Amino acid sequence: MEKIQIFDTTLRDGEQVPGCKLITAQKVNIAMRLEDLGVDIIEAGFPISSPGDFEAVEAISKIVKDSTVCALSRSVEKDIDAAARALKHAKRPRIHTGIGTSDVHIKYKFNSTREDILDRAYKAVKYARRFTDDIEFYAEDAGRTDNIFLAQVCSKVIEAGATVLNIPDTTGYCLPSEYGEKIKFLYEHVTNIEKAVLSTHCHNDLGLATTNAISGIQNGARQIECTINGVGERAGNTALEEVAMIIQHRLGEKYQTNINSKLLTDISKYVSNEMGMPVQPNKAIVGENAFAHSSGIHQDGVIKNRNNYEIIDPQSVGIDSSRIVLTARSGRAALAYRYKQLGFQLYKSELDNLYLAFLKVADKKKEVHDEDLIGIRKMIGEFKAVGNA
Ligand code: KIV
Ligand code: ZN
Repeated sequence: MEKIQIFDTTLRDGEQVPGCKLITAQKVNIAMRLEDLGVDIIEAGFPISSPGDFEAVEAISKIVKDSTVCALSRSVEKDIDAAARALKHAKRPRIHTGIGTSDVHIKYKFNSTREDILDRAYKAVKYARRFTDDIEFYAEDAGRTDNIFLAQVCSKVIEAGATVLNIPDTTGYCLPSEYGEKIKFLYEHVTNIEKAVLSTHCHNDLGLATTNAISGIQNGARQIECTINGVGERAGNTALEEVAMIIQHRLGEKYQTNINSKLLTDISKYVSNEMGMPVQPNKAIVGENAFAHSSGIHQDGVIKNRNNYEIIDPQSVGIDSSRIVLTARSGRAALAYRYKQLGFQLYKSELDNLYLAFLKVADKKKEVHDEDLIGIRKMIGEFKAVGNA
């Protein structure tokens, strides 16, 4: 069984998104929850970017004990100095430094050459090693970087002392097969690769962030960078809850993480509230509808045996049970089931009458709630009484 390190960047890549801004106290509370969740590395911020971010990384460094606390920097000495200062109190500090390596970035961001980028990367890692032995290097836009050059950069930064190699698909460009092949290529061609861990950092511009991270793992990566609810630049990052459940549920014979999945729903709601960033209802694992059944065929199947339509036990992600949602698509089985939950055991003829009345209400409403069901029963009962009189 191989351990996959979970590197959470909710407080850095996630928090830099418009509308997701947090103050230090909120960041500290989220960091404590991430630690409880079992996250191995918490990326707490980008200290040179603002005094507020510096303060947050410092505060998190003081409070987190089990998880590694990581701070981002560019390949610039003053950035690395700020990261090191902010991490001064961390029990397990990590400096995350790096530079763009794709030809697009080299030409249009740096107006530079591959040789110069190699040199800057090497010097940055060497410099960062003065402060800690735990140095992660990111090759920004690795997704669009030529694999041979990328392998050269990775070999060079390992020589300088990097212990983790972050291979970001910064623009969410790669197909899962391409991203997997990239990781495999690096695993096979980087000099002294056994001295470092390959890490995935995938963006979701084409909706492939989670798939690409998993493809990376299947090809040699041993760390996944991700965020709660998949928040992050533009379309977001790999969602922590998704990779944690994919590994637990489908890849558990080969890989494991330290994540306590029972806390996933709770932390998803917490982060969503703190950031003011709603979670889409159909979001995998933590969306409002992730464990809700609404069509008659599915409801009937779930009531007979939940394995018919549920691949994950809701309790494993911290939800008591799945929901049977009553809509105009629901059948008699679901209606009888919900009435039974409300304490009414129905005879067949009674159910038939209630079902007709229910459909009339359901056609007018999106969802029929318990109070509607009680109202419908009362109404039918009253009609009966009037009819009998
Ligand atoms: O997406 C990216 O390339 C990043 C790096 C700064 C790690 O977030
Ligand atoms: Zn990113």
